[in-house]
Amino acid sequence: MYYPEELVEEVRAKNDIVDVVSGYVKLQKKGGNYWACCPFHNENTPSFSVSGNKQMYHCFGCGVSGNVFTFVMKYENYSFPEAVRMLADRAGVQLPKVEYSEEQKARENKRARLLEVNKEAAKFFYYQLRQPHGAVGYQYLKKRELSDETMHRFGLGYAGKNGAELVQYLRNKGFEDELIKEAGLANYSEKHGLMSQFWNRVMYPIQDINHRVIGFGGRVMGDGEPKYLNSPETPVFDKRRNLYGLNFARTARSGNIILCEGYMDVIAMHQAGFTQAVASLGTAFTPEQANLLRRYTDNVLLAYDSDGAGVKAALRGIGILRDAGLTGKVINMRPYKDPDEFMKALGKEAFQERIDQAENSFFFEIRILEGQFDMNDPESKTKFHREIAKKLCEFSEEIERDNYLQAIAEKYFIGVDNLRKLVAGYAAQTGLAKPVERPKSGIQAKNTPEENAKRSQRLLITWITDEPAVYGKIKKYVSADDFTEDLYKKVAERLFSDLDEGRFNPAGIISTFEDEEEQRQAAELFNTNLPRLETGQEREKAFHDILLAVKKNSYEYYTSKLGTDVNALNQVIAGKKALEELAKTHISLE
Ligand code: CTP
Ligand code: MN
Repeated sequence: MYYPEELVEEVRAKNDIVDVVSGYVKLQKKGGNYWACCPFHNENTPSFSVSGNKQMYHCFGCGVSGNVFTFVMKYENYSFPEAVRMLADRAGVQLPKVEYSEEQKARENKRARLLEVNKEAAKFFYYQLRQPHGAVGYQYLKKRELSDETMHRFGLGYAGKNGAELVQYLRNKGFEDELIKEAGLANYSEKHGLMSQFWNRVMYPIQDINHRVIGFGGRVMGDGEPKYLNSPETPVFDKRRNLYGLNFARTARSGNIILCEGYMDVIAMHQAGFTQAVASLGTAFTPEQANLLRRYTDNVLLAYDSDGAGVKAALRGIGILRDAGLTGKVINMRPYKDPDEFMKALGKEAFQERIDQAENSFFFEIRILEGQFDMNDPESKTKFHREIAKKLCEFSEEIERDNYLQAIAEKYFIGVDNLRKLVAGYAAQTGLAKPVERPKSGIQAKNTPEENAKRSQRLLITWITDEPAVYGKIKKYVSADDFTEDLYKKVAERLFSDLDEGRFNPAGIISTFEDEEEQRQAAELFNTNLPRLETGQEREKAFHDILLAVKKNSYEYYTSKLGTDVNALNQVIAGKKALEELAKTHISLE
């Protein structure tokens, strides 16, 4: 932990979650909770709830949940220590100054210096663009129809022909050569000494989600090579985990994100009012970026180049989006090459039409596939149909698969029953796709025995947090050892010992975990969607079932450990007894 646990808890306790969240979204009181449209996914009816009692939030739509720290972390994209500092500040809690190990301090310090030197370099380039000798850069951008306001908003700049100037400027600002080099801003050569990495290029500062400059892309003016030169990866510039334009797009709230290929595309789109446009950073779109996007939308529109390379990149992108559980659609840019050219030629109304007509990614894939076959040749056509069948097998959900099957059959004039037979044939050979894992979403539950066992454990913990009084009635049957997942066990230990001492503080338990993924999982434990049941009898039956499932799983777990774990025998004996008793015991929830 960066800070002592008691201090973290003090900060949390002094920041009422309802207070903090209402600083970001408009909450409405309904029943015991407060409600809003979820800030972490797009929706029109509120399914995001904040409980003052539990000091937690939970979205019934996308499944996110957590305490006041995780809310701020998610919303502001802060690390845990950053969230603690911000909330300590807000509540006037003094934090100790020295909280890092030497190594952490050195690392943080390096990151801070890299961000500073990037910021200074961005200022330098920005200034150069607006000087007489930067006119060539300025004219270039003007010719590409960027307004002064757009250039300012994106902090565009110019790296002049004299590669020594930037270095001199940064040295004067107190930056060491070593750091300038490490930031990828300059290179050392025997002949010239330290010289700017970028020269005679217009400069696009690349910003993270908090508007901090983490790297640069530099475009040559005219036709030189390479067309774009990008900063290398550094401790602050992770190309797999950032997206150009996301610092603006994250607050666009437009119901979708438009993914482009180029910096210039993003800028042209934003200038036209499509501030939801982003692009990857000189590399192909990555699964990490898809995960990042999932925080803001579940609807991604691809605006890739219309040439062969663009289509190929779009096909890859669709797969990545699908694996991340996002819906992808493809915007048709023809007859223009990319969004930038489209916008210049036809303007924003026409582009909006293309957005509205964006093609479902599966249809897009099939259409591209079609191009590889000769429909006048029966043999080739049959192959095409087989390929369709193969692709349909990738849908794990039957309804979805069948809906697509019908739509495709109609579109390509294939007999539905014939296509169904083909699909069945393939499925028999290769099996249907397994449901995609969607770790961050609470809605898609997998139905493996392990997942069911985990789910009952989560349900039991949520139930106890919702109705702490039931704990007293079941404590003789369950203990933390019944939670067979390591993290669940830790949470249960804490929750039960709190309750034993007459305390109840689930939100505080979340922050006892260091790792953000663990915090997320702990939060999920307190916010599993309980079955909605009407009568008291139904509720008691459901509760009893959950309790039995947890005990049964625990019994089986320890049985499998007999002989290897000294504790197992006791657990098995006690578990058997508890199961027998529970089978004939009625637990009242009144
Ligand atoms: N790119 C790169 N290095 C290159 C070419 C391209 O890193 N030599 C990356 C850049 O991030 C660029 C993106 O790939 O923005 C898309 O390339 P391209 O379509 O050529 O770029 P545009 O943004 O369309 O460039 P422009 O309109 O300025 O010609
Ligand atoms: Mn272009």
